Amino acid sequence: MSPAIAGPDQTDRLAAFEARIQRGEKIEPEDWMPEAYRRQLIRMISQHAHSEVVGMLPEGAWITRAPSLRRKMILLAKVQDEAGHGQYLYHAAETLGASREEMLDDLLAERAKYSNVFNYPTLNWADVGVIGYLVDFAAILNQTMLARCSYGPYARAMVRISAEESFHKKQGQDLVIRMAQGTPRQHAMVQDAINRWWWPTLMMFGPPDEVSSNSAALIRWGIKTKTNDELRQAYLNQIVPELHALGLNLPDPELHYDEASANWVSGPIDWDEFWRVIRGQGPCNRERLEARQKAHQDGQWVREALAEYAIKQAGRKLPVAGGSHAGA
Ligand code: 3HC
Repeated sequence: MSPAIAGPDQTDRLAAFEARIQRGEKIEPEDWMPEAYRRQLIRMISQHAHSEVVGMLPEGAWITRAPSLRRKMILLAKVQDEAGHGQYLYHAAETLGASREEMLDDLLAERAKYSNVFNYPTLNWADVGVIGYLVDFAAILNQTMLARCSYGPYARAMVRISAEESFHKKQGQDLVIRMAQGTPRQHAMVQDAINRWWWPTLMMFGPPDEVSSNSAALIRWGIKTKTNDELRQAYLNQIVPELHALGLNLPDPELHYDEASANWVSGPIDWDEFWRVIRGQGPCNRERLEARQKAHQDGQWVREALAEYAIKQAGRKLPVAGGSHAGA
């Protein structure tokens, strides 16, 4: 609600809220906040949670096909972490009054988004390394930025999640290094995977700032502290030299180093592809959604059993174990 139409007390409260944000204070669930602030956070956190849960699918397909027991255990641990990140973030969204059921319904009914990058196929084992190295590194840059977010539960969730993402990136980087320095066939496999994941990973940071419909509000309220393009640029400046050092190229003939700005400058990103993918027309959107819908249906009996148990417990006036709590 803009101050112009807000009543005097609303204007004062909004001014006090903005002053808290300026002072770098954390907003907690029980604090007053503008409805638009709350709605933005529910949008962002719920879509972040959806991304974590859908993000389990591309790599999960390779757990049974890992080339060694060690790699299987590493991938199993990573995918399990992503599931936990999703639950953590759904919980953070619940502290804003969002309902878990509604968030899940929004995902399953294609009303909610999740990260574009998870709508591409994982064709071979090199993809597992490239996702860990490139995609999780992009997520780390974004999530370490969000660890400074003005909303307490989200910022705290990001601190824990970013620590686990560092392991995700390291295991992927280790895999990419081994393949890049392995046989010519392994080097070719990892180069092919980078060619396929490069552009969707740059798109992960969101559309260019000039068309980012949410950034202005998010930056004003300290939810985002960097813009989409700023994070994308930081990513390019770190990852390009690392991949070049491994003898790996990027599928961008216009990529070049600009001495004046000390930046790696990317060629044009195909934003038509980005909007097509996030509107449901990516290579794997249907497959990902059907997998989530099937998992939800398969879990119906568990939800019914838990509800039945809770009713019986309530009837016995015994505390239901694990009641909901606000903090995240
Ligand atoms: N994928 C899908 N949709 C995207 C997107 C992406 N990569 N980037 C932007 N969009 C959508 C936005 O959601 C918005 O649509 P909406 O208003 O209907 O929600 C629209 O495109 C315009 O984009 P904006 O720039 O205005 O949106 P934001 O300001 O919200 O910025 C964002 C987009 C940078 C993704 C921001 O929402 C964000 O930081 N979200 C939290 C982090 C997150 O969700 N990360 C996803 C990856 S999680 C992950 O990688 C797991 C790891 O373990 C691998």
